[in-house]
Amino acid sequence: MSLLVVRGLTRHFAGLTALRDVSFEVAQGSITALIGPNGAGKTTCFNVIAGALLPSAGTVTFDGADVTRLPPERTCRLGIARTFQIVRPLAGLSVLDNVTVAALVREPTVAAARAQALSVLTRVGLEPKADALASGLTLPERKLLELAKALATGPRLLMLDEVMAGLRPAESMQIVAAVRELNAGGITVLLIEHVMRVVMAIAKTIVVLHHGEKIAEGGPDAIAADPRVIECYLGNLGRKK
Ligand SMILES: Nc1ncnc2c1ncn2[C@@H]1O[C@H](COP(=O)(O)OP(=O)(O)O)[C@@H](O)[C@H]1O
Ligand SMILES: [Mg+2]
Repeated sequence: MSLLVVRGLTRHFAGLTALRDVSFEVAQGSITALIGPNGAGKTTCFNVIAGALLPSAGTVTFDGADVTRLPPERTCRLGIARTFQIVRPLAGLSVLDNVTVAALVREPTVAAARAQALSVLTRVGLEPKADALASGLTLPERKLLELAKALATGPRLLMLDEVMAGLRPAESMQIVAAVRELNAGGITVLLIEHVMRVVMAIAKTIVVLHHGEKIAEGGPDAIAADPRVIECYLGNLGRKK
């Protein structure tokens, strides 16, 4: 069964088409990856799914309900959570307070939100930093905080936008382990990621965008061998290294 169904999504910005007739589904319980070169439309796709942007055309269906025109606070309450490519914690607040604010989306009281926040921080391994100011965190810690904030809202679908970008392999493995564990616990994951080693290892299905269009979709082996994907994306990734 599909938890998320995206149909014919198109989004124009002034003279630019960031998404053109993009359709895909995210199976309940799966880890699905959205990949493609910079500017392919991946973050725009997340923004439309989460309700931060309205599409120019197309629909987003979550657990059978049309959520296309719902704002982010409504999609979040329904169980869609996302992290931001550019991490932006409330720098003057502690780590715990940042996550507590996110937990208030679902929890009725500050005390309950705080308890939920502490439990989430423990789950992602950031509990030792609970009282530290968000502004003082290292990049890997900020990424974990971003993950914790998304989790604190109690999502059924967790959308991760380049949470491994800029991390060393050992640091990204900590996030990979956390994502696997969350998925094993029943959270469906849709992730945008450039680190192919990670994508190939954890994604069951990969959707490839290029210039706003879906150019391929399939399992890791099929995608790694797809001539069009190699030409548009994977070949270039290899050359850059
Ligand atoms: N708010 C916006 N206003 C204008 N253009 C945008 C906006 N957001 C994204 N774009 C453009 O849409 C295209 C896709 O961007 P984006 O979705 O961020 O790509 P990706 O995440 O795949 O790198 C890019 O050309 C980008 O400059
Ligand atoms: Mg992006």
